[in-house]
Amino acid sequence: MDNLTNTNTMNTNKATLENHLKLDNKAMNNLASNMNDLLSDYHIFYQNVRGFHWNVKGENFFELHEKFEELYTKLYQNIDDLAERVVTIGFNPKHAYSDYLKNSIHKEITDVSHGEECVKHVIDGLGILAKSHRKVAEEAGAAGDIATEDMLTAFVGDLEKRMWMFTMFVK
Ligand SMILES: [Fe+2]
Repeated sequence: MDNLTNTNTMNTNKATLENHLKLDNKAMNNLASNMNDLLSDYHIFYQNVRGFHWNVKGENFFELHEKFEELYTKLYQNIDDLAERVVTIGFNPKHAYSDYLKNSIHKEITDVSHGEECVKHVIDGLGILAKSHRKVAEEAGAAGDIATEDMLTAFVGDLEKRMWMFTMFVK
């Protein structure tokens, strides 16, 4: 009887310490919160890039208009994958712009139309976003959530490549 009681107690404790993926619940809770912050970063940066796409003027209009669209399309895809990963690990992705504005490291950038200035903002934004990815990817790895770590690692590699290309444009 004592053994049975002990076993039940152990199982109950285990259930509170692990989420449905059998990962540590506290670590995953912290990870989901940081993934939601990253989601906020993405949305503000995404909207900034859309603004550059719409407002850019000058001799490089056609090229930059198209490149900004390619970038925001990729950001849009990453946003959806990131939000769906938050759901997959058992939490709710934030979806209110008020939350995004409150939690994003990125600031809203408005009324910029000079091509080189737009590109410099894009390079800066990609750098900030890449830095946040590395932090969250490391946290996912430490929590044993290798799928989130892999996803974010793939994202950061792609963002860094885009950053290189935009950097070459303003050299
Ligand atoms: Fe467009």
